Amino acid sequence: MLWFVAVLWSLASVFGENPCPCQRPELCRPIQKHRDFEVFVFDVGGKTWKSYNWSMVTTVATFGKYDAELMCYAHSKGARVVLKGDVPLSHIVDRDNRTAWITEKVNLAKSQFMDGINIDIEQAVEKGSPEYQALTDLVNETTQAFHSAIRGSQVSFDVAWSSKGIDKRFYDYVAIAESCDLLFVMSYDEQSQITGDCIAMANAPLAQTLAAYDEYVNLKIDPKKLVMGVPWYGYDYPCLNLSQEGVCSIAKVPFRGAPCSDAAGKQKTYRWIMQQVTSSLTGRLWDDKQQAPYFNYKDQKGQIHQVWYDDPQSICPKANAVLSKGLRGIGMWNGNILDYSDDPVARQHTALMWNALLGC
Ligand SMILES: *[C@@H]1O[C@H](CO)[C@@H](O)[C@H](O)[C@H]1NC(C)=O
Ligand SMILES: *[C@@H]1O[C@H](CO)[C@@H](O)[C@H](O)[C@H]1NC(C)=O
Ligand SMILES: *[C@@H]1O[C@H](CO)[C@@H](O)[C@H](O)[C@H]1NC(C)=O
Ligand SMILES: *[C@@H]1O[C@H](CO)[C@@H](O)[C@H](O)[C@H]1NC(C)=O
Repeated sequence: MLWFVAVLWSLASVFGENPCPCQRPELCRPIQKHRDFEVFVFDVGGKTWKSYNWSMVTTVATFGKYDAELMCYAHSKGARVVLKGDVPLSHIVDRDNRTAWITEKVNLAKSQFMDGINIDIEQAVEKGSPEYQALTDLVNETTQAFHSAIRGSQVSFDVAWSSKGIDKRFYDYVAIAESCDLLFVMSYDEQSQITGDCIAMANAPLAQTLAAYDEYVNLKIDPKKLVMGVPWYGYDYPCLNLSQEGVCSIAKVPFRGAPCSDAAGKQKTYRWIMQQVTSSLTGRLWDDKQQAPYFNYKDQKGQIHQVWYDDPQSICPKANAVLSKGLRGIGMWNGNILDYSDDPVARQHTALMWNALLGC
């Protein structure tokens, strides 16, 4: 009896005030096991996580509402669940403010039995500015705080598809990579700053995507710190004009210094895309240069649209490069946007998308 009370008391002190919401109390323990290959999933909420392929998932970054059921389930599969971290950089130049932010996140993670944090700062930063150093310090201090408070915890940081100041994000990529467990490279939104012809193009053209990994590695960032992020969404562009060659000119929407950007289009889920392509004007087309699928459709007002996206054929060579370049793993934005319904065609598409993550 005394023994039992002692165990309860020590569990309560380890896990803080909150009772463990899982059926088995051991599922509230942080994941300790290191896995060589990461499959890093962003989850934006809802319950479709129940249909993920849990035999591959290693980390779930929860960008939706906290879901204790997801935490318990992920832990039962040996997968980590990590918080989202975002803060205006002007607020954390001040050291006390930075420490307060980190303490709050560590306490939140502990109270929710989570295994780390994914820092998603997509703000413009000038090289050498106070924010530049503060961001590097934030990542370093967050990693130290998490590692000492939660054994086995993981701290990751999201970076743009290229290290070359995309969207004016001039970060200290090398120091940030050294200061955390892994970088999630967002190999998508690659048309956020179009400087050439203002036309619809692939979200993540193959050659450009892969060359950017070589650039990260050439900076002397360990490939084992790089997780490749692939898009499970595409862009739907209204065409101002569709040339005979099928080139779709798009509205000039400037973004962070560029005259034109993918903001002229709308992001669409793979679930929507797979339905829309069946009633399109062209059916699925393939662009050899960008190694990506696309199609054209006419909306109810008669306007032509061009949709660029990724599918198993465009993702396979990227996933193969993860293996051949010896990267840490792969992941996607985001896990929820496949069609997880019972429809047999949907099931097939969904299984192929998951399996494409492991290469072909
Ligand atoms: C500290 O952070 C708060 C928001 O959490 C912000 O309003 C405030 O301006 C910050 N102070 C400094 C000195 O940056
Ligand atoms: C992180 O901070 C610690 C303590 O200040 C320092 O020793 C270490 O070198 C820093 N790490 C990096 C990668 O800058
Ligand atoms: C549309 O494209 C054609 C070439 O395919 C060009 O001759 C025409 O001027 C373009 N129209 C507009 C409004 O840009
Ligand atoms: C889930 O992934 C594994 C590989 O880890 C694969 O063998 C299996 O077929 C996948 N499950 C489904 C339902 O596709």
